[in-house]
Amino acid sequence: MKTSNIRHFLTLTDLSSAEFRRIIHRAIELKAIQHRGEIYEPLKHKVLAMIFDKSSTRTRVSFEAGMAQFGGHAIFLSPRDTQLGRGEPVEDSARVLSSMTDCLMVRTFAHENVERLAEYSSVPVINGLTDDVHPCQLLADMQTYFEQRGDIKGKTVTWVGDGNNMCHSYMHAARLLEFKLIIACPEGFEPQQSFIDETRDYIEITSDVTSACRNSDLIVTDVWASMGQEKEQKVREQAFLKFQVTSELMSLANADALFMHCLPAHRGEEVSAEVIDGNQSVVWDEAENRLHAQKALLEFLLVD
Ligand code: CP
Ligand code: NVA
Repeated sequence: MKTSNIRHFLTLTDLSSAEFRRIIHRAIELKAIQHRGEIYEPLKHKVLAMIFDKSSTRTRVSFEAGMAQFGGHAIFLSPRDTQLGRGEPVEDSARVLSSMTDCLMVRTFAHENVERLAEYSSVPVINGLTDDVHPCQLLADMQTYFEQRGDIKGKTVTWVGDGNNMCHSYMHAARLLEFKLIIACPEGFEPQQSFIDETRDYIEITSDVTSACRNSDLIVTDVWASMGQEKEQKVREQAFLKFQVTSELMSLANADALFMHCLPAHRGEEVSAEVIDGNQSVVWDEAENRLHAQKALLEFLLVD
């Protein structure tokens, strides 16, 4: 039997603009609660099952730590040691896992797998990254911007590099939070057409990285070859040569512009060491905020 009427988080567009802002503000509050050392356990005895078909440091640890801090528990499942890795259908796994737990989180390749999991799950499903989108990262990135500079509405954000899963989620965020997103990518590495169609009033695409960074409020980049594209590494290194975020590019942006990267980063490829380790970079806050933003998301999906 298929299940409906459950709130899932498969892309940012599963949230309204108001809900997105509410989660950001709640994440900032939850961070303060945790930093004060207060115990807050709204998910006591609740269980999150986490399916990882791709590697992860931040996503795994932030969800696991977040569930522990909320008084609940998280179970790490990898294809190496579950029946999912031996071909048990996603639909069957969804039914079984959701009958025993309160929430599922999945990181996988094809976005369609997450959609199928959600279709057959009786509990909320959270997308922890697919080939198409990375919505959890955007909760943390936007929390970081709001903390440092206030609301992002009306600001200019520059995406430098591949039109990949992170870029697609930035496009969704631009539409929901009403900022302008300039995407600077080499020809042939543009975002997918369906994302362009969804967000066209909020984005601009160019291969001129210099003009794209001028007067920007936030410059963001990501790896040149994402997980699953390892074989394309050499070809991509050539294609993206002019797309390294350097101090020269940062100097074209507004004086108070920030630099973000979802990590893991490759210094000397998509970003220079000087920029990522420099004073405009907020990558460590951004990484820590994965914890707080996802706790706000879990509370939104499971408690509110
Ligand atoms: N940024 C991010 O999702 O990191 P991990 O791959 O380590 O989870
Ligand atoms: N675009 C990157 C993000 C990693 C968090 C990837 O998919 O590998």
